[in-house]
Amino acid sequence: MTFLFPGSFDPPTIGHADIIERMSHLSEKLYVGVLVNVKKKCKYTVEQRQEMLERIAGSFSNVEVVSFDGLLVDAAKRLGVDAIVKGLRNSVDFQYESEMAQVNLTISGIETFYIQANPSYAIVSSSIVRELSAFNGDITGFVPECILDLL
Ligand code: PNS
Repeated sequence: MTFLFPGSFDPPTIGHADIIERMSHLSEKLYVGVLVNVKKKCKYTVEQRQEMLERIAGSFSNVEVVSFDGLLVDAAKRLGVDAIVKGLRNSVDFQYESEMAQVNLTISGIETFYIQANPSYAIVSSSIVRELSAFNGDITGFVPECILDLL
């Protein structure tokens, strides 16, 4: 099957990298879709986020990083994927994601699959990484080593 793994990735974390690796083993093709959202103020530009993800995805030949604007389901249709995949850390993620998945299913018929996040990275999030970096905190262990110099 082919999947689209979408997100803001502002910035990508070790948890995202883990999901990309695990999904690459399960997919014929995996697209990692970076949201270009002019309304949402991101710390990193879409080009920066794409570069970080390309480094992370670099060793997996069936993973491609793309950016998308507008509705996720429109990007999924354009790419011709079989389904969307989202990572879940906990029930709060599930509550938010299940609402999105139901809207996406209703408006497009496109399915969303979930993959359980690695418990080792349960507390890792892009917002925690942004918060730590804003105050010169140590982000080692929260993001993949290959992108540390870009943060
Ligand atoms: O990493 P995030 O911020 O949780 O990713 C959220 C994302 C990009 C998956 C979500 O905001 C999204 O799908 N945005 C595109 C607009 C859309 O399709 N919204 C859902 C239907 S209302």
